[in-house]
Amino acid sequence: MKKILFSICLLGTVSGLRAEDGHQLWLRPHASVPVKVVGPAKSSALLATARQELQQGWQGTAGATVTLKLTKDKAIKYDGFRLNAQGVQANTERGLLYGAFGLLRRQQTGQAVAEEISNPSYEYRLLNHWDNPDGSVERGYAGQSIFWRKDSSFVVTGHDRALWQQYARANASVGLNGAVINNVNSSPLMLSAAYLARTKAIAGALRPYGVRVYLAVKFSSPALLGGLKTSDPLDPAVIKWWHAKVKEVYQQIPDFGGFVVKASSEGQPGPQDYGRTHADGANLLADALRPYGGLVMWRAFVYSPSDKDRAKQAYNEFVPLDGKFLDNVIIQVKNGPIDFQPREPFSPLFGALKKTAVMPEFQITQEYLGQAIDLVFLAPMWQECLRSDTHQAGPGSTVARCTDGSVYAQKHSAMAGVSNVGLDTNWTGHDFAQANWYAFGRLAWNNQLDSRQIADEWLKLTFGTAAQLAAADWDAHFLAPMTQLLLASREAAVNYSMPLGLHHIMSATHGHYGPGPWWGPPGMRADWTPPYYHQAAANGVGFDRTTAGSNAVSQYHEPLAAEFNNPATCPDEYLLWFHHLPWDFKMKSGRTLWDELALHYDHGVRQVRQFQQTWDAARPYVDAERFAVVQNKLRTQSGNAVLWKDACLLYFQQFSHLPIPAEVEPPM
Ligand code: GCU
Repeated sequence: MKKILFSICLLGTVSGLRAEDGHQLWLRPHASVPVKVVGPAKSSALLATARQELQQGWQGTAGATVTLKLTKDKAIKYDGFRLNAQGVQANTERGLLYGAFGLLRRQQTGQAVAEEISNPSYEYRLLNHWDNPDGSVERGYAGQSIFWRKDSSFVVTGHDRALWQQYARANASVGLNGAVINNVNSSPLMLSAAYLARTKAIAGALRPYGVRVYLAVKFSSPALLGGLKTSDPLDPAVIKWWHAKVKEVYQQIPDFGGFVVKASSEGQPGPQDYGRTHADGANLLADALRPYGGLVMWRAFVYSPSDKDRAKQAYNEFVPLDGKFLDNVIIQVKNGPIDFQPREPFSPLFGALKKTAVMPEFQITQEYLGQAIDLVFLAPMWQECLRSDTHQAGPGSTVARCTDGSVYAQKHSAMAGVSNVGLDTNWTGHDFAQANWYAFGRLAWNNQLDSRQIADEWLKLTFGTAAQLAAADWDAHFLAPMTQLLLASREAAVNYSMPLGLHHIMSATHGHYGPGPWWGPPGMRADWTPPYYHQAAANGVGFDRTTAGSNAVSQYHEPLAAEFNNPATCPDEYLLWFHHLPWDFKMKSGRTLWDELALHYDHGVRQVRQFQQTWDAARPYVDAERFAVVQNKLRTQSGNAVLWKDACLLYFQQFSHLPIPAEVEPPM
């Protein structure tokens, strides 16, 4: 019996069975009505996909004719499209596919189809998979890799292909057009013939959906894989090696997208090992890729133990290099200066590089935001970053506009999200983590889109039926409260874990899940330990990044630098990010810092309890399986929130010596 069960489970996870078991993300089958699709005379895989999607999902007038038309329209940008009641027009085949999905989404979410143009904010919209060649996934909470397998078997099965196609279809439905299929902590093996052969097969499965494949490469590959004496970017043999390797890649995969590189960071090799700069390293690869139209996405996530304030390092290393990168290099910058924390101010590199293309990197996988246990909808966090005004080219120079080509002329533009996808049957570990994949795609397409609209769309597509969408009670009893829940969930996570600008105080022993402000074994690098970041002591708490402290504040353009530098004007959200303040510091609310901190932790706990009630009330509108799973996870999340609150308040109380305010639930 056990064996049978085991084999069923196995099939359910690694096979293409997802189509039958209901885990179809936001792409559930709908009872469609007949439609006639008229398209360009030429046939191509992409056009066939567009046609098939329309035929499978049409909800409009029965027997209608939809025209897919390739055009040359200057108002349409990149793979954008023009929609009207008659059909879709686009300059590219990808555009027709996105238009087809756009049309279906409007039908399925009950929106009218009006004449409109929809252009993507970014030319390249990519997922970064931190998948290792052995099938494990760094910071992955949804099972093993969908691309690589532990047994190193390079046999590509029908199941593999089916899975990759479903994955690509989901990406295409939200406009994502690229996938970096391996970890930024890359293995040189990725560029070996055997791995390239599997990469080619993956590219083949993704191509009909317009998703290009990219690889993360290890900078020392010439030495490690090629057997050269060095990987010095200025060495002629190294240059030759990369050119030959790139040629080999394009022979296998003619539409290969390019390389992502994590170099001279967290122990990864890089140009600095040879006394060279990031520009030397990036340009070497860019030069090799350029004849084929390939890109280099060079990451700015760099820090070393030597720096006194890790938050400053990327800016210090990259700003002096502005203008020195080839135009097919894009600097890939995490939203905040430290590392995907629940809340950070935007990275000061946004807008500061004026002659170099910069792209935002967001983390979809919830490393510091509850992993696959806690329900945290990330669109509000990304929106907060994208809408932050850098002031670098006057008011209105938001992160969105500084990266999409609106403020600075740049040849290419892109946005990347670290994927949360794995072999789990629901793809993302938590059913609601699917919403973050969806949200990332939608924001990469339109960086002005509001989180509320994204939440509304995702809930309708994932949980609603046509009948429910038409019924008022579904709106009032499911859609409205669940939208509220999604929109509040990120702030709740900030409240119960790292409020008021606290950051990096998570547990290291539990893989970054749960609290750990005390963590710091003897001999450990200080900048990996929470006490380095919160600086709690009898005289107060917080990291002093003011002009009197590390001076990280000066990396922001005025008026932000002055605003952040002064505790009276610094937003509460970033207070302890920029300031070390006494426990009895008077907050804008009139309360002391200590009381305010305690109230935020307590509020976070109460918010999660409210989410539990909202979900319990949603029971009639959700299938039993998902209802029970999410209900259980919310229970665990609620416990996690209490743990955060109690652990942090009791830990900090050792320094503050102040009582827990009466309104706050006493620690257990
Ligand atoms: C974080 C994460 C690492 C990852 C790194 C990166 O530090 O914990 O697993 O390698 O970010 O983005 O490179």
